[in-house]
Amino acid sequence: MNPTGKTFWITGAASGMGKALSLLLAKQASLLIISDRDRVGLEKTASEISSLGARVRSEVLDMSDFNAISQLAGKVLSDGIHIDGLYQFAGISQRSLVAETPVDIDRRIMEINFFGVVALVKAILPDMISNGGGQISVTSSMVGKFGFPYRSAYSASKHALHGFFESLLAENSKYNIKVSVLIPGRVRTNISKFAINREGNEYGKMDPGQENGITAEKAARQILKGLQKEKKEILVGGSELLMVHIRRFFPALYYILATRIRPV
Ligand SMILES: NC(=O)c1ccc[n+]([C@@H]2O[C@H](COP(=O)([O-])OP(=O)(O)OC[C@H]3O[C@@H](n4cnc5c(N)ncnc54)[C@H](OP(=O)(O)O)[C@@H]3O)[C@@H](O)[C@H]2O)c1
Repeated sequence: MNPTGKTFWITGAASGMGKALSLLLAKQASLLIISDRDRVGLEKTASEISSLGARVRSEVLDMSDFNAISQLAGKVLSDGIHIDGLYQFAGISQRSLVAETPVDIDRRIMEINFFGVVALVKAILPDMISNGGGQISVTSSMVGKFGFPYRSAYSASKHALHGFFESLLAENSKYNIKVSVLIPGRVRTNISKFAINREGNEYGKMDPGQENGITAEKAARQILKGLQKEKKEILVGGSELLMVHIRRFFPALYYILATRIRPV
């Protein structure tokens, strides 16, 4: 996908990888629609995009509010805008043990990370098909490829994305719909600070993993390269991604390692 002259919708654009990719795309896109629940961060991203000379429309959107998702998508499409690329980053993480986490918390994570993502795709896909095709990406995680302590529902929500988006691709590649699943390892963003604990409150700390991860800007460059090559899975990060290959090729070793990880 060549970004020149195209229209993209990026969710989770107020910070982290969504913001960094928006700024990269701003150099070539014709219009960027950016959304997030964080109004202040979103406005900051919008003004940085404008200063790069791109047109931007920013929309506060909570990905757990399915009515708001379909209303906003309907409004955008009825304004005559066709989305060439829908790149979804909005998501929340988790820091709590299975044994102590009420199912309501699991459900909240699934609603944002899975059902919200699915709802937005469904709202955009028919128009994308009738407009001749487009590109859809969703942000999983390396823990969308294997389980990890303290992340049970988060990991499950990311695993679910793989099944959904592979099916989406299988059904729609004949309509020129390209699908990429992003698989970040560790990227230095606020994702762990805003992760929720067993009470549904913010965890509030930057994990050592995130602290030592690559920057969001470096991640965005890896992502853009993968999107341009229309890769079906895009690994994003550094040496920590080795665990994805260990899980796939040496599952017995993965089980030994996973049970020894100290939950943080
Ligand atoms: N950073 C990593 O190491 C890593 C690794 C694997 C996967 N990921 C995934 O990468 C994606 C982007 O995260 P990031 O690392 O760039 O972190 P980030 O900087 O926290 O970005 C996530 C953005 O999503 C927004 N968001 C959260 N819940 C939302 C909701 N209900 N509706 C709308 N927006 C919402 C956040 O807003 P608030 O600031 O208000 O929370 C934030 O602006 C996420 O899906 C995450 O799971 C990240």
